Amino acid sequence: MAKVDIGEQAYVLPMATTILGSFLEDRANFMALGWLTRVNYQPPMLGMAVNQGHASHAAIVKTGEFSVNFPTVEMVEVTDYVGLVSGKRVDKSGLFNLFYGKLKGAPMISECPLSMECKLVETVQLPSNSFLIGEIVGAYSEERFLTDGVPDIKKINPFLLTMPDNRYWSVGEVVGRAWSDGKAVKKRLNPDIS
Ligand SMILES: Cc1cc2nc3c(=O)[nH]c(=O)nc-3n(C[C@H](O)[C@H](O)[C@H](O)COP(=O)(O)O)c2cc1C
Repeated sequence: MAKVDIGEQAYVLPMATTILGSFLEDRANFMALGWLTRVNYQPPMLGMAVNQGHASHAAIVKTGEFSVNFPTVEMVEVTDYVGLVSGKRVDKSGLFNLFYGKLKGAPMISECPLSMECKLVETVQLPSNSFLIGEIVGAYSEERFLTDGVPDIKKINPFLLTMPDNRYWSVGEVVGRAWSDGKAVKKRLNPDIS
């Protein structure tokens, strides 16, 4: 099949839709965040690309702390809202019930089934965004969202983001097992490697 050049504004497909929490001068602030990934195994670290003009950026650089919260599909509208307005003009602190773990600068959202609090460990300045790397110092869920003690995506029911069509998606069916489904191919192609 012939490949089509779709231009350089290409995106990771799909992305988790999350809510970034931070602490402005006098209040909690939240923004929608799609450009997020785990970046280190031990210690556990997250990396995210935040535009340098956002209120969240200034808050995180100042306090050195932030939270990442995973909303459910029932929270699509409020998640989108915190991605439409800036904390520079609007107080977004009253939208959620908040809780705190170890960090004062990392307000977390009670309504979200999964929340992580992070300490900023590195900032990489890029032309428009900064890649902010944070160490996860705490992660919180509820028994009803776990299976065998770990977050269960079916119970959490998060939603995904695609760009540039800017759509939200729910999660589909399990189609395989990671670090497992390739084993037969590995054995066939590399019979000498254990
Ligand atoms: C679904 C969605 C995902 C977003 N992801 C990001 C992102 O990863 N990085 C970013 O800098 N802005 C992102 N934004 C834009 C910010 O959420 C938005 O500009 C927000 O109003 C900034 O708020 P603040 O100024 O209070 O920090 C996203 C917006 C939406 C709707």
